Amino acid sequence: MTTAEAMAELAALHKDRPNLRLPTAASFKDKRRRYLEALRDENIALNNREWAEKRVILASTPQVVFLQINAVCNADCVFCSKGYDYPIFDIDDYFGKYGGSVLPVLRRARELILTGSGEFLGLPKARRILERFNRQLPHVDKYVATNASHLKPELLDLIVGGESRYTLQLSLHAADRETFETMMRYKAYDRVMGNIRSLMEKRDPGKTRVYFMFVMTTLNAESLPDFIRFAKGMGADRVIAGYFYIYEAQQKYLSLYFKQDLANRVIAEAGKVAAELKMDVSLPHPFGLKDEPASKPGSCIEPWHQIMFNPDGGVLPCDVYGGFRETLNEKTFQEIWNGPSYRSIRRALKTGGGCLATCPRHNPIGVNDWRAHVIHRHKDEKQIVKEYHEALKKP
Ligand SMILES: C[S@@+](CC[C@H](N)C(=O)[O-])C[C@H]1O[C@@H](n2cnc3c(N)ncnc32)[C@H](O)[C@@H]1O
Ligand code: SF4
Repeated sequence: MTTAEAMAELAALHKDRPNLRLPTAASFKDKRRRYLEALRDENIALNNREWAEKRVILASTPQVVFLQINAVCNADCVFCSKGYDYPIFDIDDYFGKYGGSVLPVLRRARELILTGSGEFLGLPKARRILERFNRQLPHVDKYVATNASHLKPELLDLIVGGESRYTLQLSLHAADRETFETMMRYKAYDRVMGNIRSLMEKRDPGKTRVYFMFVMTTLNAESLPDFIRFAKGMGADRVIAGYFYIYEAQQKYLSLYFKQDLANRVIAEAGKVAAELKMDVSLPHPFGLKDEPASKPGSCIEPWHQIMFNPDGGVLPCDVYGGFRETLNEKTFQEIWNGPSYRSIRRALKTGGGCLATCPRHNPIGVNDWRAHVIHRHKDEKQIVKEYHEALKKP
């Protein structure tokens, strides 16, 4: 950034926040950060208020933003939902096309989640992506989902050494080499373990959080309790376990929908191990919970708090939502965020209806429904029902 650009940015921020008093002696960097933090904090407070009041039209923007950064992947996880024919993300193209809509939203956000199909830390421009977000959005927390195979020292330094706070979600799904190779179908166990050890040595735990991720399938579910012991031994801050969602029909055999007793036993044991070790853990809802008032959530926060931006301009309220057709190629961010699709989702959720009925994340009884175990993107309802009947024939 040139000095002229920096001064212009500061003047624009000041125009946005004329009442913010800053010490005149503060450096440009400090002033900029204080303006950005004020912008973010006001938006978060307003967004929380609008969620509490269940407003349908929002003056705030989402506080959590997913940016889907699609890349080639060096692994080939048996359960993966990425497919094989998607366009690769290019940071310059993306911001050239959508920056005008997306940047103001990112600046007001609390957290930016960098994920997507494939392994973005393996992109030739991975370094540039991290540098850009560290520079433009130092006040926004970053959350990166990665298989940890590309955590080279220069990327690690940008993550643990920058001004921003990072959370790394390391997708591992196994503690031992054999299960790791069965699940991820690549030979990177030693490299990944080495990278995790370097990360743990270099990080300041108060600034960089490390979560270990375990996608539960029929192949690895038994080893979840051991995975929690392993995470504790490696110094992870949290374990996140979640059901596998069926993307391709031939992946059905991996779904715990067909092994519900196993899933429930493993979830109970994992909870016990985590409590003994004092390990923070997020486990999925077990199967078979009854439709009782206590197990019914009132609403879902996600269409108020967050948004997902796809590289092609597509927008989604959350990662399990199917059939949402809004795109930044046709409408501005505001036209989508407060437009008819979002308004009807928020209206339905306000009364506990809509997508909540089959949501595997927010509705405990949702997991009993087959539709909650299928990724609905790119699929019509008839296909989902057809696959269900096929699956019952040969589980
Ligand atoms: C698609 S990956 C992309 C980022 C990175 N390659 C990774 O594995 O973390 C993002 C997250 O989605 C999870 N995931 C992928 N396919 C899934 C599926 N079919 N069901 C449930 N989770 C899945 C991955 O394990 C990972 O934690
Ligand atoms: S590492 Fe991530 S993107 Fe790559 S195959 Fe596995 S889940 Fe999919």
